Order: sequence, then structure tokens, then C-alpha cells
Amino acid sequence: MADGIGDKKSKQQSEELMGKEAREVNVRLVDVSKRFGKIVAVDSLSLDIENGEFLILLGPSGSGKTTTLRMIGGFEVPSGGEIYIRGKIVTNVPPNRRETRMVFQDLALFPHMSVGKNVEYGLQFTERDKKKRRLLAGNSLASVSLDGFYNRNVNTLSGGERQRVALARALVTQPPILLLDEPLGALDEKLREQTQVELKMMHRELGITFLMVTHNQEEALSMSTRVAVVNEGRLEQVASPEVLYENPETVFVAGFVGTAKLFKGEIIEDSAEKSKLFSNRIEFFVPSGFRKGEETTLVVRPERIKLGAEAEGKENMFEAKIQDILYKGPALEYGLILNNGEKIRARVDSKSITETSSIGDTISIGWDIKDCKLVRS
Ligand SMILES: Nc1ncnc2c1ncn2[C@@H]1O[C@H](COP(=O)(O)OP(=O)(O)O)[C@@H](O)[C@H]1O
Ligand SMILES: [Mg+2]
Repeated sequence: MADGIGDKKSKQQSEELMGKEAREVNVRLVDVSKRFGKIVAVDSLSLDIENGEFLILLGPSGSGKTTTLRMIGGFEVPSGGEIYIRGKIVTNVPPNRRETRMVFQDLALFPHMSVGKNVEYGLQFTERDKKKRRLLAGNSLASVSLDGFYNRNVNTLSGGERQRVALARALVTQPPILLLDEPLGALDEKLREQTQVELKMMHRELGITFLMVTHNQEEALSMSTRVAVVNEGRLEQVASPEVLYENPETVFVAGFVGTAKLFKGEIIEDSAEKSKLFSNRIEFFVPSGFRKGEETTLVVRPERIKLGAEAEGKENMFEAKIQDILYKGPALEYGLILNNGEKIRARVDSKSITETSSIGDTISIGWDIKDCKLVRS
């Protein structure tokens, strides 16, 4: 990157930071890194988490999400960089003295303790009065809809109930910041969806900051106010779910969030209104923004593609052969193969295809410039 661009970017970033200050930053990571021997688990990660937001750290397995969360919670010491919680540097503050509480991926419940005692464990450092502990634990259990579970043996609970006990234990101290590591990972699909809704409601009711980790992009988009996408320990992009989906800034984000067809190629013509990209023997009309000779990647979402008569007259139009058709309720998803052998998927309204089309047929496929996006390769 040229120096000029770098300077401009860092100036823009610091202006953004100042704007965020007014909205109260809860957790600030500044160039945080973590190495385990030769492995760089987290690589110069900088991120601001605002007061009361529901931020999700999204990334594939091994991308450094858990390590990041553990550093914020105080369970891991960074190899470099600084962590601030509510304006104070916390690098050497132990977990129980931070304003964070963590729900671990494996829940870490004590099998030899009752549900109630597990929850009270969260109060061991803060509340000496036994009666008060019991009362607070009862309240916390009620807040996760586990009234009457105080004396239950944790080994007799379902996965969803165990999940709630872990949540109650973290919430019992009324922490301003809740850290959740893949909290829905162990639940079956139905229960996961239900718990997604419940967690979102709980976030609204409690009004505290939620920082959650998941590798599931659908979950991240539907639950959070903002998503921070990480890959190989680095922050790729942080944005609202809508912006992340509509305006991915990197190839990784475009491919990881939602489904997209990516065409890597070179800009062969550029102008103010539109440019032309050459990718694997096909020319595409694309939005302007990259210069002639630059390598870039075209992103096309399945739902932006039109088929058959609806594809006629589109700025990009090709013939494609139908490889498969999937019924997705109100939508039909087509697997298509272009003349250059590239595969692409299109999702169309079941009613929009009037002509009969079946596997093996050739069909028109098209999209306009405004329906696609370029990202740097
Ligand atoms: N205690 C540890 N010792 C050595 N390597 C670790 C340790 N914890 C995590 N790692 C490594 O750091 C990388 C990131 O791990 P992690 O933060 O758990 O990723 P994620 O939660 O995104 O799956 C992985 O390569 C992992 O193997
Ligand atoms: Mg993890």
C-alpha cells in the first residue's frame, strides 16, 4: 500500500475512533497479538466494541476467535498490544476483577454441584452473604427461564438447559460485558434457532454489551448489531450485517458471508460509469473504481441473477447450462455452468421462470452492473 493511502486511512480511522468515544467504547483492542510458540493466533487486531452493542466475532475454525475472547476476559495474556475495558487498561487484571463474564464453549459446569451451586460459583469473589447468594442465583436462574431448577443435578439437564445454567452463572454478577464463546454450538438446529431469538431478546432486556463468537455466518448476520470478520488472526472487516453482506471489502468476506460467485480477473477497460473485467475467457461489465491493468475480483450474489426472459437486456448476459435445480420453498436455486466451464448459482422466485426449464437445458443468465461488486483480490 502506498504511504499516502496509508496516512489517509489512519487519519480516517482515528476520526472514526473519536466519533465512537462519544458513544462510549466498552472494550478497545489496540494492535492485540497472541502467539503460541510459532503459531500467531491473533495478529495485530484493533477493534472497538461499543457500550450496549451485540458484536459478533465471526471466522472459520482456528482464526483466533476464542483466543481474542479469552484475552478480553483475562484468561490469556496478549503477546503484544493493549486491551482497554471502559477506558482502563486491563492487561494485568485477573478475570474476576474485570467487568466481563465469560460463557465458555464447553460451558465448564461443575458436575458435582447442583444447578444453584454452579450459578452461585459466579458470586464466590463478590458476595459473602450466603442468603443473598442464594437469592441472586434464584433471580439469575429465573432470568433464563430456569425457575425451580436450583436443586437439580446438572448431569440430568438437557443441552439447552445446561446452556442456560452457564448463562445464569455468567449473568449472576450483572456484568456490564458478557463474553459468549460459540454458545449455541452444542445445540441441535431447532433449539439453536430458538436460543438465537432468546439471546437477542435477553440482550435487549439487559441492555449490556454482548460479545459473541461464532463460525456460523447465518447466526452472525441474524443476531448481531455488528459483525467483526476475522481470518487467520486478522480483522478483515467490521460492519453491520447489511453492509457486510451488500458491501464486502475483501474476497474473504465476500466468500465467507453469504454465498457468492467470485470471478478473479483483470480490468481491461475503465471509465467513470463502468469498467470491463476479463476473467477466465469471459468479459464482464462491472462497476468502476479499479484502474485498467488492476487485478480484482467480481462478486455476484445468487439472488441478484436473473434467468430466462428476465435475463434479456441485462448488462451482463450469457448462456448457461442447467446442472441442478433445488427447491427452496418460495425460491428455486439453479446450479449453472457457463461456457468457460465456471459454475455459478442463481436463486430466483419460483414464479419468475415461465418457460419450462430442466436439467441439461441451456438458459439465459444475466445481471446488471448495479447487481455486482468488485473487491480487491
Ligand atoms: N493454548 C494454546 N496453545 C497452542 N496453540 C493454541 C492455543 N490456543 C489456541 N491455539 C492455536 O491458535 C489458533 C487460534 O485458535 P482459536 O483462538 O481457538 O481459534 P477459533 O476459536 O477461531 O477456532 C489455532 O491455530 C489454535 O490451534
Ligand atoms: Mg473457538
